[in-house]
Amino acid sequence: MYFFVKKILFLFPAETAHRIAMSALEAVVAMPGGEKLLRKCFAVADKRLEKNVFGISFPNPVGLAAGFDKDGRHIRALAALGFGFVEVGTVTPLPQEGNPKPRLFRLPQDNALINRMGFNNAGLEALVDRLSKRPPGIVIGGNIGKNKSTPNERALQDYETCFEALFPHVDYFAVNVSSPNTPGLRELQEKEPLAALLRSLQQRNLQKKSPKPILLKIAPDLTDGQLDDIVEIVRESRIAGVIATNTTIGREGLRTSAARVAELGAGGLSGEPVRRRATEVVRYLHEKSAGSFPIIAVGGISSPESAREKMDAGASLVQVYTGFVYEGPGLIKRILRHFLKK
Ligand code: FNR
Repeated sequence: MYFFVKKILFLFPAETAHRIAMSALEAVVAMPGGEKLLRKCFAVADKRLEKNVFGISFPNPVGLAAGFDKDGRHIRALAALGFGFVEVGTVTPLPQEGNPKPRLFRLPQDNALINRMGFNNAGLEALVDRLSKRPPGIVIGGNIGKNKSTPNERALQDYETCFEALFPHVDYFAVNVSSPNTPGLRELQEKEPLAALLRSLQQRNLQKKSPKPILLKIAPDLTDGQLDDIVEIVRESRIAGVIATNTTIGREGLRTSAARVAELGAGGLSGEPVRRRATEVVRYLHEKSAGSFPIIAVGGISSPESAREKMDAGASLVQVYTGFVYEGPGLIKRILRHFLKK
């Protein structure tokens, strides 16, 4: 069924197709019995899939990665498709338009996407307003970032602003310092600024009556030495864990022609080409930390086997984005059924 839907959607530019797909989904949810129908078709409810990670009870371990529902507009519909959790954002304190379009491209030969969205989002206030009416029964992560206009010296303020405003409305936080599309953002992954950022957020967190898990989202392009630093920083700051990985700035091993890739220009590459490296990062962190913190694995999951690979590498939970675009909502069910078998 998704084969035909995809044929039509892929006739449109990628960002337009996303909007059409989400509008269609919302139309189904708005119909009487629509949400129930979606659940019946796609969701797998089974007690054996439930998982408690960093103190949160997840109905199943397959989540939607950040960037897909940046403004938290479709949580109900996405939950009906069977996701165990949805990560909204990246949100920035002020609304911003992101980069000029086109800024999202398909590489069908590689089952991949290249994006340079640049944190287009409706801003913190709009997200808080929507989340204050969030539907019950779905775990929500809040992925936080900084505005493009905020210099790195003041980045901490942006993260703190997002953290405080979202605190009552999300179940966990993802601190995004790894998107390649905000100039200079990834410099915050350097040891000193990163330690300072996480220490400060965790200090605020620990002053709350019931602190919430804070996770760090990292790039797949870090060296082993940088990953060693990450392990140390997670330990020292006592944050809850890591999300590995974001998109890559690499372009190696693609089937798409070099000329086409060059024509598409800058941006983060996601999907199958990032699968192997993302798994390596998960395994490296899991081994180096001796499993002392949970890892949410993301990057190139497009089948039950690729999801299993991440779990075998040490992940506690997984997220999908590009695989969901190429495979459709049936992917979640296929992964969950596979997890139930083993
Ligand atoms: C993303 N991703 C992302 N990550 C993040 O932390 N904040 C964001 O705003 C976005 N935005 C975004 C937009 C688009 C169009 C894509 C394709 C991706 C990264 C995403 O959450 C994920 O980490 C990577 O895409 C790798 O997973 P997949 O796509 O290979 O499953």
